[in-house]
Amino acid sequence: MSHSTGFGISGAAIVGGVCGQPIKHSMSPILHNAWIQAAGLDAAYVPFAPAADHFATFVDGLRGGAVRGLNVTIPFKEQALAAADQVSDLARMAGAANLLIFEEDGVIRADNTDGPGLLGAIAAQAPGFDITARPVVILGAGGAARGAVAALLLAGAPKVAIVNRTLDRAHELVAAFGPRTLAVAEYALTDHLKDAGLIINATSLGLGGGDGPAARLDLTPEDAVVVDMVYKPLRTEFLRRAEAAGRRTVDGLEMLLRQAIPTFEAIYGQPPSPEVDVRGLALKLLGEA
Ligand code: ATR
Repeated sequence: MSHSTGFGISGAAIVGGVCGQPIKHSMSPILHNAWIQAAGLDAAYVPFAPAADHFATFVDGLRGGAVRGLNVTIPFKEQALAAADQVSDLARMAGAANLLIFEEDGVIRADNTDGPGLLGAIAAQAPGFDITARPVVILGAGGAARGAVAALLLAGAPKVAIVNRTLDRAHELVAAFGPRTLAVAEYALTDHLKDAGLIINATSLGLGGGDGPAARLDLTPEDAVVVDMVYKPLRTEFLRRAEAAGRRTVDGLEMLLRQAIPTFEAIYGQPPSPEVDVRGLALKLLGEA
């Protein structure tokens, strides 16, 4: 492990980064560089925004370790999976990768830490919650929902009901994930809320304000946990309604921060310091603190 020389980044620095289009508003560089600085590492974490149709050549050019690892975000997560030589179970199930690791021998490995981020956020904000105890209801059937369903099934969720405006997309997920999942039309949501242990908003509803998904959260069991993947605003209407009904809530920002922990470790070879208040930093960036 290379430690800082005290003169900034040396020629031996470990370089990591995040790749998306656009990337300007990503919080990842600020968070990862705060961890790098706290650990005194000779390392850097930089943003990349390759042209949308040049992602594959960009990644191929990094073979051999010009960059040690890359976080991947919208719109490149599916392409990242396709670009890799080795794919983790979670990334394969999610159909997308948010992390590429470039081995010295030229091999590119793909992983997905979005699902573990969800589980980590639940463990942090709803401690003691048992994912194996009751069915899960997930709202949405896009990429975000898919990654979550993969992680929930691997973690032992007994049943995952996928509710989506476009029911065909929910059926596609069921076809991919099998018998522990079922596709549910919006009008039938209430029936499934009554015995749900975990309800997750994986749609874009509520982003930038607004009501969020119409779900009778007050009909869920009293010990149910409600998660919103949307983190702008931090306290969405969906989470406010859950709170008003007395349910425990988990916010999208915690998910974002938790997915960054295993990615930092994979790129820089050590876990980030828990001493850094990354949540406080993120709240400031979001204008929430
Ligand atoms: P992501 O990769 O973030 O999941 P996505 O694939 O565009 O993005 O998926 C967005 C999700 O939000 C979908 O489940 C979408 O429902 P449809 O599949 O029916 O489009 C859901 N969504 C977006 N706007 C919605 C709205 N106004 N009402 C209900 N669902 C909505």
